[in-house]
Amino acid sequence: MKELSQFAIDVLAGLSSSPKSLSSKYFYDDEGSRLFQEIMGLSEYYLTNCESEIFSTCSGEIRDELVDGKQGLDIIELGAGDGSKTAILIESFLRTNTDLTYSPIDISKEAVETLSSEFQVKFPQLRVNSLVGDYFRVLSSLSTDKDRRKVILFLGSNIGNFQHSRAIEFFRGLRSSMTSGDLLFVGFDLQKDPEIILRAYDDSAGVTARFNLNLLTRINRELGADFDLSQFTHFANYCPVEGSARSYLISRERQAVKIDSLGRTFEFDQWEPIFMEISQKYSIRTIEDLAAESGFSVKRNFFDGKRYFCDSIWQTR
Ligand code: AVI
Repeated sequence: MKELSQFAIDVLAGLSSSPKSLSSKYFYDDEGSRLFQEIMGLSEYYLTNCESEIFSTCSGEIRDELVDGKQGLDIIELGAGDGSKTAILIESFLRTNTDLTYSPIDISKEAVETLSSEFQVKFPQLRVNSLVGDYFRVLSSLSTDKDRRKVILFLGSNIGNFQHSRAIEFFRGLRSSMTSGDLLFVGFDLQKDPEIILRAYDDSAGVTARFNLNLLTRINRELGADFDLSQFTHFANYCPVEGSARSYLISRERQAVKIDSLGRTFEFDQWEPIFMEISQKYSIRTIEDLAAESGFSVKRNFFDGKRYFCDSIWQTR
């Protein structure tokens, strides 16, 4: 048998476990990335607007927190997406003639290349150095100038898609690539009215449902499976005790799904769930605890007017 890809190995592990699960990191093929852009434009998905509001209304204060008396600033963005929020910040830095470099890092070559060419047109005076690959591998390979402050951006509450222990592991990994004086800038979606959170993950137009189901289409295409999408329903819930929104695909029937490249058939009971994604929501206390557990302290928090979202600047301890 041909050697299995990491995607195939993870699908095999997820569908063999109980409860069954699939990793949300595989949502982002071309169609998944397109659907996520559509989600970010939905009024129910408040996260993007709230974070953009923070960037627009607080860009001057954010700049003052990030700039120091040293030589200049190296901004490194993990999973930059379309960079529209970052553009607001960069504009504000350039207005005050801050000496700036910008390095977007992403596993998708296409994503970072599109972003860098857009930024080079938009900001001709900005030095852009796009990097493709795994965050940690790329970060450890960066030979940054110690006289310049490094600011790592991880926006959009992407951290919320990690389980707590993985989030700590992730931040500790970032910490080990930082030196004293460097800063981490992280977006966190905050706990709020559970109904508002639930609607963000169960929108009325069904875009989030399509986003989840698209992973089954990807498994059909890339691993030769025969998932019948009409036999699965998207279901989202929010647990206010844990602050976790979770999404599932529920098997509507008792059925069997064959995956050729795994040489396996998986049985589903009627109403059996596949756990797809966690989107963690935070309190200020949990943000402070996360920072402390990973070797940081909170330097300053920024909020939107409704206090739905928080961009938190962390310094190394
Ligand atoms: C990328 N991430 C922060 C999104 C979230 O809110 O958890 C992914 C998403 N899932 C459903 N809608 C958006």
